Amino acid sequence: MTKTFSPQATEIKAIFDRIAPIYDELNDRLSFGQHRIWKAMAVKWSEAKPGDNALDICCGSGDLALLLAKKVCQTGKVTGLDFACEQLAIATSRQMVKCPTVPMEWLEGDALALPFEDNQFDCATMGYGLRNVTNIPLCMKELHRVLKPQAKAAVLDFHRPSKALMQGFQQWYLANIVVPTAEDMGMKEEYAYINPSVERFPTGKEQVKLAQAEGFQQAVHYPLMGGMMGILVLTK
Ligand SMILES: C[S@@+](CC[C@H](N)C(=O)[O-])C[C@H]1O[C@@H](n2cnc3c(N)ncnc32)[C@H](O)[C@@H]1O
Repeated sequence: MTKTFSPQATEIKAIFDRIAPIYDELNDRLSFGQHRIWKAMAVKWSEAKPGDNALDICCGSGDLALLLAKKVCQTGKVTGLDFACEQLAIATSRQMVKCPTVPMEWLEGDALALPFEDNQFDCATMGYGLRNVTNIPLCMKELHRVLKPQAKAAVLDFHRPSKALMQGFQQWYLANIVVPTAEDMGMKEEYAYINPSVERFPTGKEQVKLAQAEGFQQAVHYPLMGGMMGILVLTK
């Protein structure tokens, strides 16, 4: 890929390339497998159905794209897009085992400049990607542009709880469970960014406003796990 990214995006891309070999195992260990439930909810709320042309932005190693594939079946198609090619390599090999018969494409590309025509996709998902892009409004604008009118997108990510008790628990969990577990696997620095990234990330209410400003007809944020996670459901 010849595209050049900002220094901040280049650093994010390098982090996700480095953690690719342990990413799936760490997700399972850190969420006690719960991330699979939240991802299944996001796919359900994207309203993906047989025959759909579906998009998973910031697909990483492909969890959401592979769940979408189960919904769109052999008559549909799923495109997974990410800028970290090491993650895409893992996604490709997982697809061969898990979903060999559904048409799937893994694209190295930028969530802030999606390489698609307008009004292409029947549904879309994004898992833990919006918090990591360097320009959230632009990412939402691009998502809106490539969806067909009335199409839905479900955006799953961490969320900062509003209650002080839950906020304290989340900070404790990130500092005392996530970072040490990542350290165990030789990736402490790579995971130290999560807490500040959650701090900076717009709240559900703010995400709704941003999505409406980018033209989404409907935007609803559903908090999960006492507000520590959330799914933003968007309708173009
Ligand atoms: C935390 S991972 C999530 C992966 C996967 N969606 C999941 O839920 O397991 C975030 C992903 O976003 C990707 N990413 C961040 N910014 C991006 C951008 N501007 N364009 C494409 N991918 C991006 C990273 O490479 C990384 O794979």
